[in-house]
Amino acid sequence: MNKPFSQACENNHSPIGAVLTRLLSTSASVLELGSGTGQHAVWFAQQLPHLHWQTSDRMENHSGINQWLDESELDNIGAPIALDVSRDAWPTEPFDAVFSSNTAHIMAWPEVEIMFSRVAGTLSAGGLFCLYGPMKYSGVITEESNRAFDHRLKAHNPRQGIREFNDLDQLALTAGMSLLEDNAMPANNRLLVWQKL
Ligand SMILES: C[S@@+](CC[C@H](N)C(=O)[O-])C[C@H]1O[C@@H](n2cnc3c(N)ncnc32)[C@H](O)[C@@H]1O
Repeated sequence: MNKPFSQACENNHSPIGAVLTRLLSTSASVLELGSGTGQHAVWFAQQLPHLHWQTSDRMENHSGINQWLDESELDNIGAPIALDVSRDAWPTEPFDAVFSSNTAHIMAWPEVEIMFSRVAGTLSAGGLFCLYGPMKYSGVITEESNRAFDHRLKAHNPRQGIREFNDLDQLALTAGMSLLEDNAMPANNRLLVWQKL
């Protein structure tokens, strides 16, 4: 079987990696939610050799992630754990950071709610939740490309869609995390960072 490949991951790993390198210089462990192809994990684990990058996703993506991990021969990546945020048991050990890319608009809103609550429970004190993807601000998606993307998502599945920043920030506050950074990223994406209080 060919390795899964995402062109978007190839395009965005460098700018995301630059922010993570700045933010995670003293972190020892990261949990990635929805690792997808596994490309991000390999890139970021290479860029951040001082920390352990733990991949996770729904079971159907594990064989692809494992192909990327096996080929990388990196020893600071953990093989994927089965983690559907609303169905599976979360790891019990604390992580210094949680990273997730392009997941909040794919999950149904109740799953996003659970993700924020469980992320806060998984982070060590002062830990960071880094969430990458397109966002809506004050009810408006300003970029035409993101508006079209939002329409496609909702046509495919009405429970999906680009999320409102204020709603995500409220979930974070309720879960005991405060906004640290809102980074503008290429291709009309954002990299939001909350810190566990
Ligand atoms: C658009 S892909 C993004 C994959 C990768 N993070 C990236 O940026 O290329 C969405 C990912 O979210 C995962 N996902 C969707 N619903 C999920 C859930 N309830 N719990 C955990 N992961 C979920 C999918 O399995 C998939 O890997």
